[in-house]
Amino acid sequence: MLDLKKLIDGMTVEEKIGQLAQFNANVFSGSDADITGPLVKNGLTGDDLYRIGSLLNFKDSKEMNELQKRHLEGDRNKIPMVFMMDVIHGYRTIFPIPLALGGSFDTELVEECTRMSAVEASSAGVQVTFTPMVDYVRDARWGRVMETCGEEPILNGIMGAAQVKAFHGEDMSKFGGLATCVKHYAAYGGAEAGRDYNQVELSEHILREFYLPAYKACIDAGVDMLMPSFNVLNGVPAVANSWLMKKVLREEWGFEGVVISDYDAVGELITHGIAADKKEAAKYAFKNGCDIEMCSNGYIKHLKEMIEEGIFTEEQLDAVVLKILELKKRLGLFEDPYKGASPETEEKTCLTAENRALVRKAANECAVLLKNDGVLPFSKEHKKIALIGPFADNHNIIGFWSCCGKNEESVTVKQGVQSKLPDVEIKVVKGCSDKWNEIDKSRFDEAVKAAREADIVILCLGEPQNYSGEGNCRTDLDLPGVQNELAEKVIGANSNTAVLLFTGRPLAISKLDSIAPAILNMWFPGTEGGNAAADLLFGDANPSGKITMTFPKSVGQCPIYYNHTNTGRPISKQRDEMHNPYASNYIDCGNLPLYSFGHGLSYSNFVYEGMTLSKKEMNIDGEIKVTVTVYNDSDIAGKETVQLYMRDLVASTARPVQQLIAFEKITLGPKERKTVEFAVTEPMLRFWNSENEFVSEKGEFTLSVGYADNMYYTERFSLK
Ligand code: GLC
Repeated sequence: MLDLKKLIDGMTVEEKIGQLAQFNANVFSGSDADITGPLVKNGLTGDDLYRIGSLLNFKDSKEMNELQKRHLEGDRNKIPMVFMMDVIHGYRTIFPIPLALGGSFDTELVEECTRMSAVEASSAGVQVTFTPMVDYVRDARWGRVMETCGEEPILNGIMGAAQVKAFHGEDMSKFGGLATCVKHYAAYGGAEAGRDYNQVELSEHILREFYLPAYKACIDAGVDMLMPSFNVLNGVPAVANSWLMKKVLREEWGFEGVVISDYDAVGELITHGIAADKKEAAKYAFKNGCDIEMCSNGYIKHLKEMIEEGIFTEEQLDAVVLKILELKKRLGLFEDPYKGASPETEEKTCLTAENRALVRKAANECAVLLKNDGVLPFSKEHKKIALIGPFADNHNIIGFWSCCGKNEESVTVKQGVQSKLPDVEIKVVKGCSDKWNEIDKSRFDEAVKAAREADIVILCLGEPQNYSGEGNCRTDLDLPGVQNELAEKVIGANSNTAVLLFTGRPLAISKLDSIAPAILNMWFPGTEGGNAAADLLFGDANPSGKITMTFPKSVGQCPIYYNHTNTGRPISKQRDEMHNPYASNYIDCGNLPLYSFGHGLSYSNFVYEGMTLSKKEMNIDGEIKVTVTVYNDSDIAGKETVQLYMRDLVASTARPVQQLIAFEKITLGPKERKTVEFAVTEPMLRFWNSENEFVSEKGEFTLSVGYADNMYYTERFSLK
């Protein structure tokens, strides 16, 4: 039986500290003799080769096996390295970006896709994934909104917990089981002005109400690791923030897992102006419970010296080493450092027809029908189709953070439509540059001609996938370049036009929305995006996705979100588009968004026939049953996410005008009626008050069914 404490007792201080260091695999990819280049750049020596505890961003199973073998031959303690990577929305077969996946409101689908990606990643040698990313967001200018499930903390937590469970699988120590790392703790998504890595200033009760719950949900689900964020939070960068790292994470939440810094975040304490040098940066990070330092060398270079100086004790170091070795043990690495990863396993595990079918289904479930004047679904009888726009025949639709997925392995819209309708004549015209910000309109005439001559037009617009993701923030959320003008010309030439939208964020597409007969938001749908688009456009799939982040009318409204407070001077919906003096509104734009949280249409016609409450009063240990009846008044089967919202009418702090407290996705056949039942209990009414207590307060509440800007029924009840 492996005795980890005994193993640690036999290690030198340098070997112990090596377990706390993680570097890019390319630092070691040269030969043993190659200690120039990345090794030296990282201040490492040849000896370090055999001390480093973990690597990230390696290429594949071949490289992992080679590096692990060489390491074990050189490490006298025979401690396997652990290999980590960002498996965010697929490993090689890519499913829709998380901002889309959350909108499926389907935890089983999320688990199925995540499980598939875990097996693919495991075949390639990935043993830990830096997932789930559950950062709460309210500002679509921030590029990493694509990586999260949006502006509802409960939903982010549910989807994050589902991913933790799915990555672990039945047995994390076996092939297909990955350890998980929740990130970016905390409030990285609250970056001022929506600019990545910018500072975050939030009150404690807002942090606790909106920004922290999803991380806690993942910890309760058994996440193995946690990654502090790059940002300053209320004056102190997360990795050195003792309120976050010790008071909340360790003392309140009792998290005992491994904490790993983000990429060079420890080194960046110097840039933030918190540390004078690497030694001080390492001191702050280690003191605040950062166990592994990713891609900076403060621990390797200075931790031993700080132990010798008595700043830290070797017992403190041993406790961290033990946590890291326990993680490796849970992963089964001491028994099998390779866990079945091999090129042959990769070959038969990745990008299979079954995996493609799954991500196609996911893309169908995540797409959001924003608008439809009746032009969709298209008939399959048409003979001439014009595919127009920069995404008409474009492989770049798998989104940022697509790990080892390859754009060229994706199915384009043109390929998807042609495959569904092999005999139809398709004319593809880009119409404008996919250099995106060029204002070249020279191909408009060709696009208009194609539109005029076609029976139907599929107009494929959006923002490129490198306009979102890490470091990719925007100050303008409209369609880039001349796409709006192109749309005006094309729709003017043929009103039988549907827009396919490709985006990693909510876009302020008011101009497009004012002229387009239909807009189907595909987000970045992944490897099977083109086939899913064809399924949805021609009615072989019925859209059921909802948006989980508000689409603004104008970027000037950002941050804009559904769970806002009322202010003391709200304006009515009816007066939204006019300026109301001395009220909370704008002179040049209404307050209402273009599309609100929870919006998403269907080809079916869902009629909410009623909502009843089992009683109108509840005491603290009581329960109110809410029954909602939905009827599908159409001949098309479809899925609908029934959403239940709550409002606390009077409390010690101003409460949101709406809060999602429950949801259920149901399937309704043609002319079918179903009732959905929710149970509302007192804990669902609790909030963080201004005294930072998590409480419910007696008084009047409402329950509503519908979605943020469009409630079908609202009923009051009292908490006694
Ligand atoms: C990046 C990201 C983080 C990722 C890490 C390793 O900078 O912020 O989400 O896990 O580096 O790739």
